[in-house]
Amino acid sequence: MLDPETGFTSDVITDVNRFVGRADLIRSCMQALNSPTSLIAIYGKRGVGKSSLFRQIQQMALGDYTLAENAGLKHEIPLKTRKYLTVFYTCDSLINSGESLLSRLINDQDDEDGLLRLVPDDGKEIVEFTRAKEVSAGADLKVVNWGAKGIESTKYAKVVPDDTVQTFRNFLSSIVQHQVKKRMGRDGLLILLDEFDVLSDKKGLGSLIKSLSSKDVKFGICGIGQDLTDVIEDHASVERLLEQGAIHVRPMPNTEAIAVIDKAEELYSGDLTFDVDVKREIAEVSQGYPYFVQMIGKSCVTKASQKGVSVISQDIYREVLGDIRNGVAFPTLESAYQKAIGTSENRQMLLHLLAEQSEQTTLFHEDVGRIFIKHARKDAEDFDVDYLDQNLPRLLDRKFGPVLRRIPEGQGIYEFINPVFRLYVRLRAL
Ligand SMILES: Nc1ncnc2c1ncn2[C@@H]1O[C@H](COP(=O)(O)OP(=O)(O)OP(=O)(O)O)[C@@H](O)[C@H]1O
Ligand SMILES: [Mg+2]
Repeated sequence: MLDPETGFTSDVITDVNRFVGRADLIRSCMQALNSPTSLIAIYGKRGVGKSSLFRQIQQMALGDYTLAENAGLKHEIPLKTRKYLTVFYTCDSLINSGESLLSRLINDQDDEDGLLRLVPDDGKEIVEFTRAKEVSAGADLKVVNWGAKGIESTKYAKVVPDDTVQTFRNFLSSIVQHQVKKRMGRDGLLILLDEFDVLSDKKGLGSLIKSLSSKDVKFGICGIGQDLTDVIEDHASVERLLEQGAIHVRPMPNTEAIAVIDKAEELYSGDLTFDVDVKREIAEVSQGYPYFVQMIGKSCVTKASQKGVSVISQDIYREVLGDIRNGVAFPTLESAYQKAIGTSENRQMLLHLLAEQSEQTTLFHEDVGRIFIKHARKDAEDFDVDYLDQNLPRLLDRKFGPVLRRIPEGQGIYEFINPVFRLYVRLRAL
């Protein structure tokens, strides 16, 4: 039995040796990291690979540039790179203000990624560790013992009652002074905030981040968006900080999608291979979304294991496609599909028409994936879908997904909120 997880994963990629492609993005990240003031902002569509890139930034921030070397950028790595201690935090929609964000950060007890772990404190035991397998890689700090007095005691950093911002500032300066400079001799502290777009009230976050950024403290934010304004509303206030830092993650070119499968073969060290044509087809249906490549790859491995074979042939791949078509391959996507269509065949038909709408109509636009309702109206007539106007609202309704969202820039233009869901619908049988 081969373990599908050996070669494929639907998780964020932290291990540099599993990260594929993205040379241009890696270059931009490297530049942003090595500029003393810049803010790093990563944005792009859902499932396109933002968090994985963000985790690689964390690795480079610690001084491990293996990724840049693997991507052929060795000659571009600065002779003296800026090195950081890092904090990594994933936001959620319950955070409703800048203040509640800071409050979360100063209370986060994660022992490898949290901010609190770095606040110097009596009794707390902090050790160096590396986030990569190589021992030579840059070290970060983690807590192995929070101390007898518990998590709250703060000797070196003063907590100011009822003033979260000041408390946060005190924490920062104590971390910079004691851990970043004195203990580890680093250039700064890097605070990475993933899923920044989900914060429910984004007002003033840009200026807050700007006021907290300095030559010793750098922020990185990452979130879903067409452009930076989706991630950071008052982006004007951080414009000057963004010279190097606004990084748009787009779908991968097909060659990189194929390279994800090559990488998997490498990870199986010869125990499993894919037909060249199968690789090409998987890349084709995945449209540059590595998540889809990983999911299909996993299904192929499982299927091959069941059959006791070590080559993913066309036959194996056809069986996997059959499972996807019948809704048994990807349970999460399937339940989203069922939720969207309910019991209406008309709605199901409409969903497929929209998912299959040719990309050609959108090619003039840099951002593919748009759906024009007027084309759908025409298709609906051709395919005899009744009541387009009655079936569309449910696809926009939160309760049932939502599957689509309206694009404000024009009448009757929509897009799939989750591009991977669109890819799924295309493979799913009606
Ligand atoms: N460079 C890469 N090489 C190989 N696989 C990748 C790469 N980037 C992302 N993936 C894979 O793609 C999937 C999505 O990655 P990731 O979670 O980083 O995307 P995301 O844009 O942060 O998604 P979300 O919008 O859901 O937060 C995961 O399965 C991950 O393993
Ligand atoms: Mg993510």
